[in-house]
Amino acid sequence: MAARTLYTAGITGVGMSFPERVLTNAELEKMVETDDAWIVERTGIRERRLVKPGTGASVHGALAARQAIEHAGITALDVDHIIVPTVTPDMVFPATACLIAHELGATNAWGYDLEGACSGFIFALQNARAQVEAGHARRVLVIGSEVMSTITNWEDRNSCILFGDGAGAVLVERIDPERVGIIDAINRVDGVGIPYLHQKAGGSTMRASHATVDGNLHTVYQEGREVYKYAVKGMAGVTAEVVERNGLTGADIDLFVPHQANIRIIQAAQQRLGMPDSKVMITIDRFGNTTSASIPSALRVAVDEGRLKEGDTIVLCAFGAGFTWGACLMRWTAR
Ligand code: UT7
Repeated sequence: MAARTLYTAGITGVGMSFPERVLTNAELEKMVETDDAWIVERTGIRERRLVKPGTGASVHGALAARQAIEHAGITALDVDHIIVPTVTPDMVFPATACLIAHELGATNAWGYDLEGACSGFIFALQNARAQVEAGHARRVLVIGSEVMSTITNWEDRNSCILFGDGAGAVLVERIDPERVGIIDAINRVDGVGIPYLHQKAGGSTMRASHATVDGNLHTVYQEGREVYKYAVKGMAGVTAEVVERNGLTGADIDLFVPHQANIRIIQAAQQRLGMPDSKVMITIDRFGNTTSASIPSALRVAVDEGRLKEGDTIVLCAFGAGFTWGACLMRWTAR
C-alpha cells in the first residue's frame, strides 16, 4: 500500500509520434489469408503504422519525448532521468535511453531501457514515480517506443495483423502534494506465460544464426487464445484491485486508459469496473498494438481530444509477455 514518501509525483507532460505510413487491413488481406471483418471483429484493429526500414525506436521516441517536454513547459536540460520501456531497442546495447538523451540534448540525465513487454510503460512509470517520491529525481521522462514491424512474422496471420510502430512519452515531475498526482500502483510478473508469448532467438539461449533467421525465430511467437484468457483475468483483476483498495469504484473514474492489445480484453476490464464507453480510451482501431507505446500515446490522444482535465481521476492498466501486468491510479496533473 502507500509507502512513506518525501515528495509527490505527477504527470505534467505527454507526447506521441507515429510514422506516416498506414498499413490497412485490406493490404494485409493481400499478404496473408485474412479479412478485414475478422480482424475488426476479433481485435478492433482497422489500421496500424509502419516505420521506414532502418528507423530505430529512438527516432519516434525522441519526437514523442520532445512533445512531452514542450507540453510540460520545460527544456531537455531540466530532465534528470530517462526510462525507455521497449522490446524493440535500436541496438542490444547501448540502451535506447542513451540514444534519445543524445538526440534531445538531455545532458543532465541518466537513464536505461526497461523490458516489461506490453506492461513496460506501467512498470517504468512506477520506477519514475519512485525516483521522484524519494527525492532522487525531479523530472523523469518515460518513453515507450516500439518498432514492432521488425519483430513481426509477416507470414503468420495469427500475429502479423496485431502490431504497429510508434511512440508515446510522459514527463513525471515533482508536484505540489495538494495536486495529488500518482496515487497507487500494483504490478505483477509470473513466468507461467513464457511458453505462450516470446521471441525465441536473438537472446543468450539461442544466438542469431542462419537457421534462426530462416526459421523466422527472431519474431513474436504467440499462442493468442492462451494469452487472451490470462489477459482478461489479469488486466480486469488488477485494475479493479487498485481502484477498490483506494475506496473507489468505477463511478469515481473519469477516464480508463488500458493497454491496447484487443478491444475484447479492454471491454472485459471495462465491464468489471462498470465503466461506460465514453470513459474508455480506444486507439487500437488506428494504431494496433504498439506494446509499450500504447498507454502514453493514448494519453496524448486523450489530451488532444479534450478528454482529460486537471484533477481527473484516471486508471491505467496493461498486460503483456512474461506474463507481466499492472495498473496505476492517479489524478491528472498536466494542462
Ligand atoms: O499485448 C500483449 C498480450 N497479447 C494479447 O493480449 C493478445 C491476446 N490474444 C488475442 O488478442 C486473440 O487471441 C487474437 C486476436 C490473437 C486471436 O483471436 P481469437 O479470437 O483468440 O482467435 P483464435 O486464435 O482462437 O482463432 C480462431 C480462428 C482459428 O481458426 P479455426 O482453428 O477456428 O478454424 C484461427 O486459425 O480464427 C483463425 N484466425 C484467423 N482468421 C482470419 C487466426 N488469425 C486469423 C486471421 N484472419 N488473421
